Amino acid sequence: KKIVVLISGSGSNLQALIDAQQRGELGGHIALVVSNRTAAYGLTRAASASIPTHTQTLRAFRDQGKSREDYDRELARHVASHTPDLVVLAGWMHILSPAFIDQFAGRIINLHPALPGELDGAHAIERAYDEFKAGSRSRTGVMVHYVIPEVDKGQPILTQDVPCQQGDLLEDLEARIHAVEHELLPRAVRLVLEGSK
Ligand code: GRF
Repeated sequence: KKIVVLISGSGSNLQALIDAQQRGELGGHIALVVSNRTAAYGLTRAASASIPTHTQTLRAFRDQGKSREDYDRELARHVASHTPDLVVLAGWMHILSPAFIDQFAGRIINLHPALPGELDGAHAIERAYDEFKAGSRSRTGVMVHYVIPEVDKGQPILTQDVPCQQGDLLEDLEARIHAVEHELLPRAVRLVLEGSK
């Protein structure tokens, strides 16, 4: 089974997928890593694992007077050329248009550091932390869900609660959440590829 992973940043979740693949626990292999940022450290992680990479920045399209839709169409064309069984958004920070999503409907999943219906969108961990400090939240969580055009709203595949603890600094909550992400995402990929989710 062929997996294409989209990243924007450090790629610690990509690394978790690579490690799971090397343990034979991913249920498929990562055929391509795509980044929308040239500086994403995840590109280095992919190269170290001999995984082909492709970088496509929105800025390059804007500089050529092209639109966001042009960007998404080209991205979809490139990803589709690898005939993926599954597209995984792992720390991907670009809202994809229906033009892209519709091409991979039912086989595109996203990792989001929050529970279903809570804290949709960017900076979810920071917002959870702020609510914890304000006393209006005692726990948050992580989910992997199918991607639909509405951001972070698709059917959940796996979710896990993450407690906020007295004395937590933001970095403590982030570390606790990332540790859960690194276990949840590879497990969700395997479940989807084996057809049980
Ligand atoms: C993760 O918390 C992911 O859920 C969020 O951004 C972070 C990216 O982490 N979308 P990494 O790039 O996988 O290290």
